[in-house]
Amino acid sequence: MSTTYTGEIIDDGKGGKAEYSSTDQEIVFTDEQHGIWASLYSGIQQPHLTEHICREWHRGMNRLKLAPTLIPTIKHLNEHISPHTGWRVERTVVRYTKADDWYRKFAERVFLVTDYLRTPEQMSFTPEPDMFHDIFGHLPFLTMDFYAKIEDKFAPAYLKATQEEREVIKRLAWYSTEFGIVVEDNRPRIFGAGIISGRAELTNTIMEFYRLDRDDVLDYRLDIYPQICEHFYKNEKDVDRVIDGINRLHAKGEMSSAESGWNVVKKLYDELGIARKGYFGGEVLLAPFTVEAIAKIPKTVYAFNPVFFVFESFQSLNEVLDSYLAPIAARE
Ligand SMILES: [Fe+2]
Repeated sequence: MSTTYTGEIIDDGKGGKAEYSSTDQEIVFTDEQHGIWASLYSGIQQPHLTEHICREWHRGMNRLKLAPTLIPTIKHLNEHISPHTGWRVERTVVRYTKADDWYRKFAERVFLVTDYLRTPEQMSFTPEPDMFHDIFGHLPFLTMDFYAKIEDKFAPAYLKATQEEREVIKRLAWYSTEFGIVVEDNRPRIFGAGIISGRAELTNTIMEFYRLDRDDVLDYRLDIYPQICEHFYKNEKDVDRVIDGINRLHAKGEMSSAESGWNVVKKLYDELGIARKGYFGGEVLLAPFTVEAIAKIPKTVYAFNPVFFVFESFQSLNEVLDSYLAPIAARE
């Protein structure tokens, strides 16, 4: 059975309104829920997978001190986050918080953690962010100063942006903190929480890193970032055709089931007559993180993302984000 997500908020019957009061933050989880947490945790916390995640996540995990078999309390999370960065977390009953509410909380340096937890059938892939995603994917980073500074950039711009700019801002967040890739030690390393917290996304992405080497797309003995840029700009016309195709599929809700997943993209390449080899040989294209490229591609709500954007360093991510966000945030 597949569910279609086209970017609409899932109706959880709560109208996006019901929230805990500040005194009502801790909830009791069932043994089954702790069990789901434990299998997700042990499924991803394996050296051959986590070695592909950027080193800041590992540092953050050391700070966050999550228990492998127990869903953490809000008290534990805040005790391990707030002293480092001043951010804190709050629980929300809402399954997928609307962007306006999300960024209003961001302005107060509050990161919302949903109560929703995936079911045992969704262990390797869930199209919707759940509490494992929020906690395991994002919160290690939120103990780190550089990440808090990145997150600090979004709300001041979002709250002053036009509707059109807000779409771009959501995409910039999506393709950085959710699905971004950073170059570290001349290797692509996973930064985005959406990849880190989903075993299918994580393993598919890692396989792509290996394929790029196997098929001589990237030569890891030379600097890889200029090679990624060169491939992208050389093939920009075809990349644009792929992105147009993705926009069409996305509008039809065909970008988001675990069963079709990456195969949807393979079919799209066939239809467009783009040979699946070299730069286009995998399931995901690596593209340089630029506002111009990101503005073209939809935020495919918890779907498989056919393009991942790569930044050369966190410094260069900062520069790109500032170039778009700072002038908007500075408006009267
Ligand atoms: Fe997320």
